[in-house]
Formats: sequence, structure tokens, C-alpha cells
Amino acid sequence: MAKKKLLKELTLLRKEAELGGGEKRIEAQHAKGKLTARERLELLFDRGDYDEIGQMVTHRSTLFGLDKKRFLGDGVITAFGKVEGRPVYAYAQDFTILGGSLAEAHAEKICRIMDLAVQNGVPIIGLNDSGGARIQEGVVSLGGYADIFFRNTRASGVVPQLSLILGPCAGGAVYSPALTDFVGMVEGSSYMFVTGPNVVKTVTHEEVSSEDLGGSQTHAIKSGVTQFSFPNEPSAIDGFKKLLSYLPQNCEDSVPRLSYKSVNENRPELDLIIPANSEQSYDIREVILNLVDPDSFFEAHKSFAENMVVGFSRLAGRSIGIIANQPLYLAGVLDNKASRKGARFVRFCDAFNIPLLVLEDVPGFLPGTDQEWNGIISNGAKLLYAFAEATVPRITVITRKAYGGAYDVMNSKHIGADMNYAWPGAEIAVMGSKGAAEIIFKNEIINSEDPQSTWLKKEQEYALEFANPYKAASRGFVDEVIEPSDTRIKLIRAFDILENKVVDSPKRKHGNIPL
Ligand code: HXC
Repeated sequence: MAKKKLLKELTLLRKEAELGGGEKRIEAQHAKGKLTARERLELLFDRGDYDEIGQMVTHRSTLFGLDKKRFLGDGVITAFGKVEGRPVYAYAQDFTILGGSLAEAHAEKICRIMDLAVQNGVPIIGLNDSGGARIQEGVVSLGGYADIFFRNTRASGVVPQLSLILGPCAGGAVYSPALTDFVGMVEGSSYMFVTGPNVVKTVTHEEVSSEDLGGSQTHAIKSGVTQFSFPNEPSAIDGFKKLLSYLPQNCEDSVPRLSYKSVNENRPELDLIIPANSEQSYDIREVILNLVDPDSFFEAHKSFAENMVVGFSRLAGRSIGIIANQPLYLAGVLDNKASRKGARFVRFCDAFNIPLLVLEDVPGFLPGTDQEWNGIISNGAKLLYAFAEATVPRITVITRKAYGGAYDVMNSKHIGADMNYAWPGAEIAVMGSKGAAEIIFKNEIINSEDPQSTWLKKEQEYALEFANPYKAASRGFVDEVIEPSDTRIKLIRAFDILENKVVDSPKRKHGNIPL
């Protein structure tokens, strides 16, 4: 009799688990404009086809009514399948079951697929939708999170780890995504914060909405916690599938190169982009779009530190990472946020064998108390360190300005770039001619009969000497001065010849990047 009852209960639970938490709960999820965990996985995997692991796992706790609320799967679906023909592990938290809260069994399931992903060299995607640590299970919930954080850290740089936030992500729940390589959020329905608006109000007396505190726009623009903000769930899942296509399966793999038939690679449009007046701005994205394969630029961190553009792309079918100064925004200066953004992207590409292309047009580091007090020294050093440490093929094209410390930092030959090209109008110097003349000819200018015209004369003298690429080329710091329209073919050839690059790094446990 007891066996019959158990079987009946299991059948019911199984039906609910298969439905993704029962029909009522599905409706509740849809009413919030959200998909269910199963619908999300179906969108993620090719033909909606995936294998589930641990569907019959349930929690073991009986405290605080949990004995009466037992669900097969314990609020998370863990699975594997293929995305565009390549294996992927994924987990999808089910908010309709105990708020997708994480406790012992739920965490064990996630840990299991993380272990499998690392052992088999397969990327892992987390679809997060959870109220955080399951309150009823107490410390085992906290332990479960820590078990995941430990694995996130161990897997870092081994397999790509991607996190989509598709609902609330509160408390400790934010740290697993933060430890992964890329985070994506959905506008209006996902948020991330360590402490929610109520706690904020109690502690700091600030009144703030969930959206303002930790919505997708907040993290895309202000904190930089998320690299992607999508308008809805299907576009988020689609976006992450596209992202995966630029990545290898693991750190020992390389990205499959798309077939490419060589055509006329000359791009005359590039000759027309840089304005004659070097103080005038232009959009570096225009340069990127003219250089790379059609429709292949996939930008990350688009709304954060807009003075730096980063993203994946393809050049003759080869996946590359692009880091570019953006003259359109703050004249392309390096500041705290741009340095952090660039550094993180460089390290990701280096960890996963993705060659780097740097497009440089930088007037220097942004001066000021705000920058200094917020650590431009150590943030700039992060970018410097990331480039200097990278062993993937690295090519720089100086499109216009390369001034001061920023010249060194932006993948100069001195810190290990393999090739450094400059366009004919490039200006490579310690600083702009006007400022330089004012400092080094200060006395001469003050004591002259006509200080203004002396200053102008000295400025022109300095510009003639340094505001061009030829001084750097004569020292071998620039390998070749090239026409913009020839840049694409030059890059294709250079990346081809660098394909088998090997760098022996000194023996050490690990470096100490200025975090
Ligand atoms: C257990 C939870 C839960 C949790 C939600 N639920 N969060 N159950 N543990 N953490 C349950 C609710 O009781 C409810 O169950 C169902 O999920 C849906 O929740 P609602 O509140 O009705 O949904 P909604 O109004 O959409 O609000 C969602 C929410 C809210 C904002 C996430 O539920 C919430 O604030 N939850 C608590 C968030 C939190 O403080 N988490 C702990 C963080 S501390 P019923 O049965 O009624 O459907 C943490 C520490 C980890 O995570 C540290 C590791 C380092």
C-alpha cells in the first residue's frame, strides 16, 4: 500500500517536474512575462532537445513545512545538449518551485554538471532565476552556494562559463554569475543585488527601486556587472548562442574557423573615416565594421565605459577579440572604467586562445581627482598587465593618436604585441604638441616678443618631429605604416602567420594582477 502511495506521489511529482512546475505555476511565470525553465532550455538547445540529469532529486529537509513541499528536481533543471552542433552543459533554475531558491540538493545538481563540464572540456551556461539561499534549509544553503563559487573559480579559464539572469538574483546568488566570464540580463524582469531595496532602506535610509538598484540598465551602464542587456528572454538566449559561436569549447581548444573565400580585401571606405582635423571625433565602430567580415561584430559591454569598444568578430572566418578606443566618447581617453573593461576582455580572450586586434586612438589617461581617487593608477595597471601577460597573437593598428602612457598600455610592441601598424596620419608622442611646446619651451615663449606666435611656432616644430608615425617606425616600434584601405588584407595575413604562436612564460604559481 505504502509502495503504491509512493509511486502515485512520484508520478504526480514527475508530471509537475516535466511541466516545469505545474500548469498553475507556468501561468504565474508567464504572467510575469517570463518563460519557464524548460521553455528556456528548449530555446537554448538545438531543436529543443536536451538530456536532463537528476530529474528525480528532491530536497532532504523537513523543516518549516518543507516536508509538504517536495518537488522533483528541487527547483533546478540540469542538462546537456548541443548548441549549434557543439556540446554545452546548462542549468535552469525554476522560480516556480520554492522561488528557485538554492539549497543542498539544488546546489549538488549544479555542482555535478559543473564538474562534468570541466572534466569534458565543455562550456557551461547558467540560467539564473532564484530568490537566493533557501531560507528554510539554513546553513546548508550557504554551503551549497560556496560549493558552486569554488567550482566557478576552479573552472575559470578552463571552460567558458556564461550566466543569464532571467529573474531575481539576490544575496549570494549574484556571486556565481559574477565569477563567470559573461553575464547577460533582461530588461525589466531581471535584477541583481547583494542586498535588496528593503535592506538598503533600513541601513542607509536610501529609497530605491529594484530596477534602479540592480536592474539590467543599472548594471549595463553604471556598475558594468553585466556585459549584455537584452530586451527579452528569447533575444537573451539567442544572444548567448551567438556569443558561444565565437568561443572555443575549452582552453586547449581553438575556435572553429568559418570557411572563407578570399575576395578583394581592399576597403577604400576606410580611407575616408578619419577627419582631417585631428581634434574632430569619428566612430571607431565604422572602422571596425569596414575591417571585419560582414555582420560579424558582436559587441560586449556596449553601454559601459563607452570610450572603449570591445567585442568579438571574425576576420576571414577567424574569431578575434577587438579592443578599440572610441574617439566619439570622451575623445577615447583611458579612464577607470575603460581600463577595467578592456583588461577583463583581454584576459578572457587570452585564456581562450582568441587573437587580439587593438585599434588605437587615445589621447592619454583622463586627468582629475575623480580618476586619481578612484584608482586610475591601479586600474590602468590592470589593462597594462592584461596585455603584457597575454600570449595570444596580438596586433595593434594606430589609427590616429597614441599619446603618453596610453601608447605603452594599448598593446605596444614593448609589452609584447606581435605586429604594430600605423595609419599615415598617426601621432605618436609623449603628449599633444600644444602642451608639449608649452612645457619644454616655457621660458622661450614667455621671454619672446610675441609669445602667441612663438608658442605656435614651437608647437609646429614639435608636431613635425613627433606627430607622425615615422619616428616610431624608424625605431621599429611600428612595423609598417599602411594605408587604411590596405588594413584588412594586412591583418588577415598577419593573423595567418601568427596562428601557431607559442610563448614560454616564466615558471610561477600565478602572477599578481593589480586587482
Ligand atoms: C525560500 C523562497 C525564497 C528563499 C522566495 N521564496 N525566495 N523560499 N527561500 N530565498 C519563495 C516564496 O516564499 C514564495 O513561495 C515563492 O518563492 C515566490 O516568492 P514571492 O516572494 O511570492 O515572489 P516575488 O514577489 O516575485 O518576489 C521574489 C523575491 C522575493 C524578490 C526573490 O521572494 C524575495 O525577496 N525573496 C528572498 C530573497 C532573499 O533575501 N534571499 C536570501 C538572500 S541571502 P510560495 O510558497 O509562497 O509560492 C543569500 C545568502 C547566500 O542568498 C550567501 C552566499 C554567499
